[in-house]
Amino acid sequence: MMRCLEFYSGIGGLHYSLVGARKDAVVVAAFDVNPLANAVYEYNHGLRPIPKDIGSLSARALDAYRADTWVLSPPCQPYTRQGHQRGSEDPRAESFIKLLEKLEGLDHKPKYLLVENVVGFEESATRSHLAETMRRNGYITQEFLVSPLELGIPYSRARYFCLAKLSPARFPDPSGDFRVATGPPLAGDAGPPTRAPLRDYLLPELDYASYDVSSQVWSGCLAGSGARRYLGAVDIVSPLSRRCCCFTKSYSRYLKGTGSLIAANAVPLEGGAGSRGFVDDRGLVHIHLSKVSPEDRENLEKTDDEILDRLVLRYFTPREVANLHSFPQSFGFPDQVTKKQRYSLLGNSLSVAVVTHLLEYLFDDGA
Ligand SMILES: C[S@@+](CC[C@H](N)C(=O)[O-])C[C@H]1O[C@@H](n2cnc3c(N)ncnc32)[C@H](O)[C@@H]1O
Repeated sequence: MMRCLEFYSGIGGLHYSLVGARKDAVVVAAFDVNPLANAVYEYNHGLRPIPKDIGSLSARALDAYRADTWVLSPPCQPYTRQGHQRGSEDPRAESFIKLLEKLEGLDHKPKYLLVENVVGFEESATRSHLAETMRRNGYITQEFLVSPLELGIPYSRARYFCLAKLSPARFPDPSGDFRVATGPPLAGDAGPPTRAPLRDYLLPELDYASYDVSSQVWSGCLAGSGARRYLGAVDIVSPLSRRCCCFTKSYSRYLKGTGSLIAANAVPLEGGAGSRGFVDDRGLVHIHLSKVSPEDRENLEKTDDEILDRLVLRYFTPREVANLHSFPQSFGFPDQVTKKQRYSLLGNSLSVAVVTHLLEYLFDDGA
């Protein structure tokens, strides 16, 4: 049995990755201060996370778990482009830094560690501190920036990962030691697998009205004034598209930069109009005016308002977001968790497929 500790456990994306990568992996304890995330975690994994500030855990308490593996996804706000990028100075980075400091005093150091964070973390002072702490404690590290796109999943969610293993264990490809690489480890020369269309990740049937975008925009119930103004800046995809944008915790509350919308009846237009062109169910071509040149604009008859009316534009459902995050079909939410809360919890989570891939690489000691 491989004993694992899951820090900043949220709804347990790392838990699924652990048991996916190692049949004998058992999460002996998970830690998170968010009561709602903990309720969803318990509902799915049958284990109640410990609602303690991770920075306050003592070395003695950590040692008592005799864990072989630590997986950690600390808060990303200190490192996001939207945030103030205060890194280690941000109070939300404190618990992670305090936890790292405990490693030194442990009798039973974990043999394997995986840390997940946003792209940008690799340039932070916290990352330098992490690398230095690992080295001082006898770990070899390899770091990766990986998106599900590179595993054939039509979902763009690039994230930073640090894998660490206690020496003398070795990585299968030692040439990556103490380096940051783009793309998954051992990707091979064959290139990325063919990407599936989004259609494969969508629900066959759903209550369309609950996910309709246009009525929400018209009625002005979206947060932030001038939501209509943002439609030109939103990524709109079709079921045949082979890529969609990262869903954040604000999906369905704000339009811009929070995740793609799907034009359920549209097919992408080949050629000139690029990703901004669609043919709707009546065969009409629509293009976002904000994305075309002034000359082309004169040739177009449609406006963004008409596009909204014509296209069956909707949000991805929480289940569809979970599918793109490669959560198993068994995953669900307790009934009392609202739709907004579901998007928020999923937006904080991660790609199970990417982390499973990385953990398989981490656990391979090349023996
Ligand atoms: C990026 S999310 C991790 C999501 C998780 N990997 C998942 O699959 O859902 C960060 C989590 O850390 C928790 N958190 C933040 N600061 C914490 C602290 N000091 N102690 C314990 N949990 C904390 C938040 O409640 C949040 O659920």
